[in-house]
Amino acid sequence: MIARARGTSVRDALDGAITAITAAGCETPRLDAELLLAHVLGVARERLLLDRELVVAGDHVRAFQYAVRRRAVEREPVAYIVGHRGFRRLDLAVDPRALVPRPESELLVESALALDPGASVLDVGTGSGAIALALKDERPDLTVTGSDNSAAALDLARANALRLAIEVRWRRADLLEDLGDEFDAVLANLPYVAEVDRARLAPEILRHEPAEALFAGADGLDAIRTLIAQLSSRSRVAFVALELAPEQARAVAALLGAAGYANVECVSDLAGMDRVVTARRARA
Ligand SMILES: C[S@@+](CC[C@H](N)C(=O)[O-])C[C@H]1O[C@@H](n2cnc3c(N)ncnc32)[C@H](O)[C@@H]1O
Repeated sequence: MIARARGTSVRDALDGAITAITAAGCETPRLDAELLLAHVLGVARERLLLDRELVVAGDHVRAFQYAVRRRAVEREPVAYIVGHRGFRRLDLAVDPRALVPRPESELLVESALALDPGASVLDVGTGSGAIALALKDERPDLTVTGSDNSAAALDLARANALRLAIEVRWRRADLLEDLGDEFDAVLANLPYVAEVDRARLAPEILRHEPAEALFAGADGLDAIRTLIAQLSSRSRVAFVALELAPEQARAVAALLGAAGYANVECVSDLAGMDRVVTARRARA
């Protein structure tokens, strides 16, 4: 129930929150404050600006203070506090069992939209299920499987699929080990942070997102390197798309070439940085 009687104005509530979140060093204080207040009041964010009668009162004051504290003091990601995050056309439930889906991972979905009708696609390291679910949502003719070695992440992915009524198959597996040979395409946003970069991560990531979703050895390529080695003997996989850090693009392109892939291309994000490498090869 939205309070309309006495209370703090939306503007005052937001100003106080923005001050606290700014002081904590968060990058997008106004956006964060608006998302948290909209969540607490149970309204769309636009309504904070449009509805002049809206006030923050009673339980909402305490709930908003608690949410701002989680953001500013604990540095929890906004998506974990509000419990969901938009990804392509979907609104996904998210929590600390899996990484918060990032906008750059939408490039992996885009890269697979032109696959042949009816192709079988594997999303390795599916986390919340974001990539697998978005792809199946936009290309219902594909057979999509999401895999992860984390049982907790797979529980979240399954719950998202159920709630969104999107049919994806889920498998618990260490990369491609014990998975069948039925895949025509493999997409993966695997961990790719180098151990040496650990200290450079923002507190939101380091303190709250699962470490096993982030780190992959000295140069960040342990998981991707193993996946590509496994792909060299999976000759049915004719298309691969891998998310990575921009400085890894050249090394990953070389690994894919050595695994028999040609037409290796880099896809840039909105900032012009290489974020995805795609590669193709003729099916054996
Ligand atoms: C960077 S997160 C990406 C999650 C999701 N795909 C996304 O884009 O939001 C990496 C995911 O890979 C999983 N993972 C890490 N090592 C793995 C392995 N050896 N086999 C399968 N999954 C793995 C982690 O549990 C985590 O869910």
